[in-house]
Amino acid sequence: MITNDFWLERWQTGRIGFHQEGINPKLVDYWPILAKQSKVLVPLCGKTNDMIWLAEQGYQVTGVELSSLAIIEFIGDNDLTYETLQQGNLKIHTVNELPIRLIEGDYFDFNEQGFDACYDRAAMVAMPQNVREKYVQHTLQRLSQKAFVLLITLQYQGDKKGPPFSVAEKEVIQLWGTDIKKLASENLMETNPDYRDGSYTSFEESVWHIDQN
Ligand SMILES: C[S@@+](CC[C@H](N)C(=O)[O-])C[C@H]1O[C@@H](n2cnc3c(N)ncnc32)[C@H](O)[C@@H]1O
Repeated sequence: MITNDFWLERWQTGRIGFHQEGINPKLVDYWPILAKQSKVLVPLCGKTNDMIWLAEQGYQVTGVELSSLAIIEFIGDNDLTYETLQQGNLKIHTVNELPIRLIEGDYFDFNEQGFDACYDRAAMVAMPQNVREKYVQHTLQRLSQKAFVLLITLQYQGDKKGPPFSVAEKEVIQLWGTDIKKLASENLMETNPDYRDGSYTSFEESVWHIDQN
């Protein structure tokens, strides 16, 4: 079972193979034009440097993450400083040098609303099937009426289970609503040798744009 302790332990033992050093090229390629100062939500953010890229575009970025270690590492890796405020179960860390807030705690305890956009890479696919719908609903409830989501999903076949979980196209569409468009798809077995170790027979990464209905 994937519990919060599972993730905390992954951070404690440094098993964070999901973390990418650079900026995700699909974010740069597929993020649409959005007004500066827009409020962008990054659920289950880990220590992704994609938040740096989003902040550098002039957005107000809010990442939500369970692990204090992820937050400390994000701050340390990027030579940043922050101030912290406790709010109920959550710790709100406000970065001094960039328009980034890191919310430390369980995403399902985070109830702010009014975000203009959401970036989901390795967040929905980190959620096991029994909480995936709750995750999507919770995310949609955080967004303003005109907001969009840029979502990256994985669909694979093979011996490995997850996380990341394989989420079928049909489920993605069913969970996020009808105003969803697939922008791109890449067979990672063709483009990345890491996926050719025999664990998979197919491994597809897709990028989706979702508008609120
Ligand atoms: C697969 S990682 C992806 C991190 C990041 N999106 C990235 O692209 O590197 C999933 C992250 O979600 C965090 N997480 C899992 N469940 C969570 C929850 N309920 N609330 C907040 N964070 C959670 C984990 O600690 C982990 O850092």
